[in-house]
Amino acid sequence: MPDKPKLFVTRELPPAVEARAGKDYDAQLNNEDVLHDTEALLAGCAGADALLVCPTDRLSAEVIERLPASICVIASFSVGYDHVDIPAARSRGIVVTNTPDVLTDATADLAMMLLLGAARRATEGEALIRTGGWTGWGPMHMRTGVHVTGKTLGIVGMGRIGRAVAKRARGFDMRIHYHDEIRVAEEEAAGATYHAQLDDLLGVSAFLSLHCPSTPDTHHLLNAARVARLPDGAVVVNAARGDIVDDDALIAAVESGKLAAIGLDVYAGEPNLDERYRRLPNSFLMPHLGSATVETRDAMGFTALDNLDAFFAGNPPPNAVT
Ligand code: DGY
Repeated sequence: MPDKPKLFVTRELPPAVEARAGKDYDAQLNNEDVLHDTEALLAGCAGADALLVCPTDRLSAEVIERLPASICVIASFSVGYDHVDIPAARSRGIVVTNTPDVLTDATADLAMMLLLGAARRATEGEALIRTGGWTGWGPMHMRTGVHVTGKTLGIVGMGRIGRAVAKRARGFDMRIHYHDEIRVAEEEAAGATYHAQLDDLLGVSAFLSLHCPSTPDTHHLLNAARVARLPDGAVVVNAARGDIVDDDALIAAVESGKLAAIGLDVYAGEPNLDERYRRLPNSFLMPHLGSATVETRDAMGFTALDNLDAFFAGNPPPNAVT
């Protein structure tokens, strides 16, 4: 029987995923969940045939250039792959894979939680309970929550997750508008109104939810000029990637009252988010939990392994992005 491929796994993974990786591969696991800097990653994967990485691993062109020649495939435990320099991988002939589909529902659920939590002042309400500051119900108590039902939701990026958010928001009788580079097929749009220009979408979006990938083109997509186009009192939600928003612009808009509230799951430079977010009472903040359910994290791991299995069986991995 041929030797099993050598797999270097950068983070601790769900037990069932590690068990399968250990059965099918000569796997070097990371049960201590030690974060690898570049040198540790490069030293650790010496002699490996494959890497199983996460969004916390920054595989820049320079790192990819220095990977051992034996590495022929990188499976990311994520749908986003902005942490991997794809052109650099492609030019070295390294196949890169991701885990789409399996985290769509969990991430869309989380985006709705951000939308509702931000709109209905969940941060302030919960703090009142936890600090013992709640003195009782009153007609004027915390009455300035933003009504959700029937409002217009603008979705930037009508891919799988954007469409799943739209589906959920329809349950709140929200009117769905969207912008994407390409108009999606009518059965996928399900009646959502398309705006070819992002600026036109912003003008109608009482709620705005970001679901585009992080690319050089979407870096600081939501900047000061674009925030200014949103209706006064709008709510902005981001469960995609932190660098899609310009933190200065977003924070200034919340501080000035231009935005009623924001809900964020992702941050530029996370986990070191801009300190000012923590001080805003009307920010509803989560620590990148979009895919954090038992079912989803297991499915992400199994999908990453399915991709590796296909590669080593000589077949095209189902989720190759190179
Ligand atoms: C992804 O998969 O890209 C998420 O950000 C992590 O679940």
